[in-house]
Amino acid sequence: MHDRLTTRRLFLQAAAALPAIATSPAQAAPDKNPELLSPLEFGLDPKLTYFNTASAGLTPKRVLDRTIEAWQKLETDPVPMAYYSGPGTVVSAADEVRGKAARLIGCEADEILLTRGTTDGITTLSSSIRLRAGDRVLLSDQEHEGGEVGWLHRERRDGILVDRVNIPIGDHDTSAITGRFADAVRPGTRVICVSHVLSPTGLRMPIAEIAAMARSRNILCVVDGAQAVGGLPVDVRALGCHAYATSGHKWLIGPKGTGFVYVSRDAGELIDPPQWLLGRNFGSNSAGLGPLTLMVGLGQAIDDLAAVGLARVEAHNVRLRNRFYSGLSKISDLRLVSPPPGLSATALVAAELPQRIDSKVMRERMRDRHGVIVKMAEKRWFNGIRFSPHIYNDEHQVDTAIAALRAELGNFST
Ligand SMILES: Cc1ncc(COP(=O)(O)O)c(C=O)c1O
Repeated sequence: MHDRLTTRRLFLQAAAALPAIATSPAQAAPDKNPELLSPLEFGLDPKLTYFNTASAGLTPKRVLDRTIEAWQKLETDPVPMAYYSGPGTVVSAADEVRGKAARLIGCEADEILLTRGTTDGITTLSSSIRLRAGDRVLLSDQEHEGGEVGWLHRERRDGILVDRVNIPIGDHDTSAITGRFADAVRPGTRVICVSHVLSPTGLRMPIAEIAAMARSRNILCVVDGAQAVGGLPVDVRALGCHAYATSGHKWLIGPKGTGFVYVSRDAGELIDPPQWLLGRNFGSNSAGLGPLTLMVGLGQAIDDLAAVGLARVEAHNVRLRNRFYSGLSKISDLRLVSPPPGLSATALVAAELPQRIDSKVMRERMRDRHGVIVKMAEKRWFNGIRFSPHIYNDEHQVDTAIAALRAELGNFST
């Protein structure tokens, strides 16, 4: 059998040469599971099957090794390693990650601010925009807390007003959604902040259309890209948004506590993070001493994923989510709330459970009885569960997870 051990050996041999893998025509065949990253390359408990990348990705040992190596170097001579720019210092290696992130999402290094994650990024953005009492910010009603908290804080502290566009769970009509955003703009609306991929259902939002509408009305468009970068190709210039925040520890499978923000140069002084006051480099005096070693690890993760190719990663993930979609749609007890296969679908796929079944109990039974890790949908949205496959998953694991869910649904009905 071309089993996990073979896959492990191949990956270990190939890890240092990921670009070569990525350009091999045989490996790139669209209908083949690339199986680039076996779960054995990760620290995951071997009894677990992991389908919750949308909460936190599995970081490869190779990325951890790079992080620890940077940490050891840092401790050989902390002050120059952490503060002096120039060849060979850890702060310089961390600063280079701005360029890697920029190449990944199609902008310039000076438009990137390295952060602790998406919540940190959106909160930084919300406090970097000049807003007065009575100014309005427009969100969707499916935003994650991380994309909301900065605005809600300013609502409480500064008297700005937060409006929300309703997107009913299961509504996948993206042109109607764009229309509702346009209709919800009021005279005081200064900012629209919306997810690129909605976390409850995985719906890919019409960001280019919303951003174009915002620009035509002199409104800033800020995007929460927590569920996009690393899972699919993202081009911030093509999207046309003014700012974009994402996490390093989800789809980019980088170290936990990493992320970055893009601020378009053409947003000028309208978006003005305090960390940039004395220089845009990571480690500038206005940013202070940050998590240098985690950023070096993030750089490794970006390099490896970019070498695999984001289009290829997306194709793999969508193939797995479509397999979930088809398997789950045959279970009459479930209501699928994610879009059907097609342009609005992403790697996240979620289903509503019957009311008699508590999603928290289901999540725990899936874990305790089958070793399958899923996310319980937040109850304010629906009583359900969400799967988010990534490049370390394969078809067999999808079938295992569906079988586990079927078995547990059967247990509840008896
Ligand atoms: C849409 C969205 N925004 C923000 C976050 C929070 O991200 P972080 O942990 O990087 O702050 C999440 C996490 O699930 C998310 O789904």
